[in-house]
Amino acid sequence: MIPLRLSEIARITGGEVHAATADGMDGAGSDPLVDGPVVTDSREAAAGSLYVARIGEVMDGHQFVAAARAQGAVAALTSRPVADLPCVVVADVQAAFVSLARALVDRNAQVVVVAVTGSSGKTSTKDLLLSVLQCHGETVANVGSLNSEVGVPLTVCRITPTTAYLVLEMGARAIGHLDYLTRIAPPQIGVVLNVGSAHVGEFGSREAIGAAKAELVQALPATGFAVLNADDPIVSRMASQTRAHVIPVGESTQATVRAVDISLDAQGRASFTLVTEQGSAPVALGLHGEHHVGNALAVAAVALNVGMPLQDVAMALGEARPLSRWRMEVHDRADGVTIINDAYNANPDSMRAALKSLAVMGKGRRTWAVLGEMLELGPGSITEHEALGRLAVRLNVSRLVAVGKGTQPIDNGARDEGSSGEASIWVPDTDAAYALLEQQLAPGDVVLLKSSRDSGLRWLGDRLVDDSLMDNSGSEVPS
Ligand SMILES: Nc1ncnc2c1ncn2[C@@H]1O[C@H](COP(=O)(O)OP(=O)(O)OP(=O)(O)O)[C@@H](O)[C@H]1O
Ligand SMILES: [Mg+2]
Repeated sequence: MIPLRLSEIARITGGEVHAATADGMDGAGSDPLVDGPVVTDSREAAAGSLYVARIGEVMDGHQFVAAARAQGAVAALTSRPVADLPCVVVADVQAAFVSLARALVDRNAQVVVVAVTGSSGKTSTKDLLLSVLQCHGETVANVGSLNSEVGVPLTVCRITPTTAYLVLEMGARAIGHLDYLTRIAPPQIGVVLNVGSAHVGEFGSREAIGAAKAELVQALPATGFAVLNADDPIVSRMASQTRAHVIPVGESTQATVRAVDISLDAQGRASFTLVTEQGSAPVALGLHGEHHVGNALAVAAVALNVGMPLQDVAMALGEARPLSRWRMEVHDRADGVTIINDAYNANPDSMRAALKSLAVMGKGRRTWAVLGEMLELGPGSITEHEALGRLAVRLNVSRLVAVGKGTQPIDNGARDEGSSGEASIWVPDTDAAYALLEQQLAPGDVVLLKSSRDSGLRWLGDRLVDDSLMDNSGSEVPS
């Protein structure tokens, strides 16, 4: 956080300072310095924090002002006066929060804002950008998948006077969302990874999703850079919608940052030659799954354009490791079973990418795909789930386990493609899946877990990994 007095926050947000305190003392004149984290969750408040009291669908954040104070918060941003902390009262807390974030970006003249959008891989690419850019300058990036109208200003508020790069994942669930987010922190560099069928149920078509994502490149200045996936036709076409300099990336010969000679090791990690206008360099990724090649190319394009030398970029890409949980997390258990927990989220594209990785990593071993429902696919949902079952069979997955509501079409698709006997099975919930796996897993097996969020499969994956920490009596082995 760039330190600000509460009175400055009031000026920025057009609000009014109320300094009355709970103990009845007149706090007039108290103008605390906010120099800790800006938070919307009182539990995350720390010394010097500003607590932003949002009114959500279920909770009214004003109830937690005292809790924020107990954690060290010194002030609050509210829509009504509160007793427990000096506060700035505004008509619209969200609008004020956005104004505050924008003012902080504007106070750091040298910060380069890099925004990342796409249907799949935003968090993975954001994490990779953080790993690489921080070798070149002070970098702030969103935690986890904070990519919304709350997550973006929260992240922006973390910049300091010396932050060189601000990396922001930006999600779009409707037309206008990216336009809104890019006004909070205007990007100089915009990355569009892909336009898939995630959220097609809400948007209606891939073209509509493309139109929503194009708002990112439309927001870029003429001096900026649009890093576009040359292998995705809808993304490539965005070149005509931006004033910025376009950098096409991908395997296509049109790309100016390209990957050639891609190979995968037995762990599904990609190696390739990074070909750029600055020369070529070998890259060996430490991340699992071929889909990271495209993400790495986007990162390379950004890093080269902010002046990082090619050799440093190649080395930093190779040294990067997963930063966010449940994305192609690979655990080799002591008993020889490998668990791949990719159950953070799923859509048809990331499902295909994960199944292909399973096929590579499971070569010569028995493979299990434990798959949950892909949400928000609209009327095409059943067809997409059937296609997934068919793909699993074509990739020779040994055992397919479809888990829970909405996944019967996966099992049906697999059977249509020729799966018989126990090779494909539907189970009602994660407990049933656990019972099946516990009984049948054998040394050498490779298990992929993947589904949309909230299916519980990520916890099933954690449980399967924890099993290897248990001795036979079921108690934990001390570390
Ligand atoms: N370029 C890619 N193409 C397809 N799948 C990908 C790609 N990059 C990552 N994935 C996979 O997609 C899933 C989601 O990855 P990630 O969390 O990075 O995406 P996201 O776009 O941030 O998703 P969300 O919209 O949930 O924030 C993971 O299973 C990951 O392994
Ligand atoms: Mg994300």
